[in-house]
Amino acid sequence: MQRIFSGVQPTGNLHLGNYLGAIRNWVRLQGEYECIFCMVDLHAITVWQDPKELIRNTREVAAGMIAAGVDAEKHIVFNQSMVPAHAQLAWVFNCVARIGWLNRMTQFKEKAGKHKENASVGLFAYPNLMSADILTYKATHVPVGEDQKQHLELARDTAQKFNSDYGVDFFPLPEPLIFGAATRVMSLRDGTKKMSKSDESDYSRINMTDDADTIALKVRKAKTDLHPMPDTMGALDERPEASNLIGIYAALADRDKQDVLHQFAGRQFSEFKAELVDLAVSVLAPINDEMKRLTADTSHIDAVLRRGAERADAIAAPILRDVYDIVGFLRP
Ligand code: TYM
Repeated sequence: MQRIFSGVQPTGNLHLGNYLGAIRNWVRLQGEYECIFCMVDLHAITVWQDPKELIRNTREVAAGMIAAGVDAEKHIVFNQSMVPAHAQLAWVFNCVARIGWLNRMTQFKEKAGKHKENASVGLFAYPNLMSADILTYKATHVPVGEDQKQHLELARDTAQKFNSDYGVDFFPLPEPLIFGAATRVMSLRDGTKKMSKSDESDYSRINMTDDADTIALKVRKAKTDLHPMPDTMGALDERPEASNLIGIYAALADRDKQDVLHQFAGRQFSEFKAELVDLAVSVLAPINDEMKRLTADTSHIDAVLRRGAERADAIAAPILRDVYDIVGFLRP
């Protein structure tokens, strides 16, 4: 069976982008692959995290994944810092990947913004840790949202360079799995910006922890334009907010965007939004309830993560030992 690895940063609430772009696909792939899902807390601290919040978010994100349908019995769910191979292999990759490659990473440029000199070294080296996450399990497939595609290409380049530098056929070249109607969910306040945990405005995103009233309020306030709904996809090109809301509807309903457009063509946004609220609440409310129940029982979540980390370590440690042998680290 082929192996999946994917991760999510425990830097705040899971939002609809994480769910539609990644986690829902993870749930659907569980029957076909051996899966390893990780709360990447080492990645989280590349920007400042309050320690107590980080712990709380790690538990909450784990609860969110499980509530959304990730099977932590059959598959592996854990937090990254519990398995030392991630950081150890990342160091080796820091010595394999080239500075020029990392300089091209758009996510670093976006996150560091104008203050590049002041960004942490970890934020710059972040993609190497991500390559290590995947390759310390020799994972073959990585389901992610569109925004992670460039990092995945870097992981493939790094695997290939390691193999060729050391003359081995050791690491597989991991394939991204990017699919569904919502590979890139945009902000509710600005259809040209990605929906993100780091956006200052909570109205820009629907959180997996939002209750029905909050979802309704955020959808009602979501930016739109003055025109009624068009009936062709081409007409959405210049209307990023409309395109985003229709994409969200299509993804939540598991339908084609064009099909949704046909249904709402010529109607006002107010009508469409009312239906979008009902749909979003019907999908998210059961997850939300289960998430609350799981989050209340921290000892259960901790036990799941501990057991997940043991199982992850059992796969990663021998692969890391092989890497150390290949590299020439003495094992006296
Ligand atoms: P993170 O925590 O930003 O997001 C987790 C997953 O959600 C997807 N995603 C989105 N999809 C669609 N629309 C959006 N607006 C949106 N926002 C987020 C992301 O693409 C991702 O799949 N670097 C990664 C975490 C990571 C990782 C890994 C992923 C660390 N190591 C190894 C895969 C494999 C990140 O920051 O994701």
